[in-house]
Amino acid sequence: MKIVHTKQALESSLEGVRANGRKIALVPTMGALHAGHLSLIQEAQQIADLVVCSIFVNPTQFNDPKDLEKYPRPVENDLQLLQQAACDVVFMPTVEEMYPKNDSPWHIDLGDLDQIWEGEKRPGHFQGVTQVVYKLFKLVLPDVACFGQKDFQQVMVIQRLIDLKELPVKIHICPTIRSEEGLALSSRNVRLSAAGKQKALVLFRTLSYLKKHFTTKSPLSLKEEGLQLLQDEQEVEVEYLAICESRTLAEAKQIDPDKKYVALLVAWIEGVRLIDNMILN
Ligand code: PAF
Repeated sequence: MKIVHTKQALESSLEGVRANGRKIALVPTMGALHAGHLSLIQEAQQIADLVVCSIFVNPTQFNDPKDLEKYPRPVENDLQLLQQAACDVVFMPTVEEMYPKNDSPWHIDLGDLDQIWEGEKRPGHFQGVTQVVYKLFKLVLPDVACFGQKDFQQVMVIQRLIDLKELPVKIHICPTIRSEEGLALSSRNVRLSAAGKQKALVLFRTLSYLKKHFTTKSPLSLKEEGLQLLQDEQEVEVEYLAICESRTLAEAKQIDPDKKYVALLVAWIEGVRLIDNMILN
């Protein structure tokens, strides 16, 4: 496994690969790797000849400086996991490498995606995500990039980036990996106590309830029941729960059987922001 820290070293490690026409997959991460990330690496290995994993805690996507500061950075452990997973190249740049002083400002038109749900609650977050992912795409020139379904809106935003910039990259979406009991794996889970992890299971219970009863009730009354389930669990603070049409993320008032729907959920437990979602039909 090659570990590179600069754009130049990354480019030279990929030169021969491109010349031979081998397929490159990129798995962008912010480190603190868990089984969810490793499943992205495994899927990437199935569809490409060489897998590049980037580890970069991207400052421009954090709208809360405390969240950036607290973000876990277990570098040695991450590298060990990637080595065991037989990842080919790890790109671990510094902030200065990714954002040189003369860097041009970034803004792209993400339409409603920048205004609703994560876009509304975390102003500037998706601008930061697209800024760093664009830089990574330009450096790695991957044929395919793997992202987890857990960040449902993020995947849509990256597809918008690809469309707007006409990039020759395909997105491969990998299913959310959960603990045996259903907690969606996330780098932020390490900040939860054992009791907090137990409480956090209410997210999966709620989403599963919405899926089970999806066809039997109106979306708005189902959402009320979901909110009640979440409120019944003590010390769980709901930021939002919504049943949305999956292509626009507009909140559903009634169900069109020809469309796909997704439930989006964000809740806080022990000061940790947890995000999850479930396709409902
Ligand atoms: O999902 C993440 O971990 C980050 O948003 C990403 C895509 C690596 C960009 O920093």
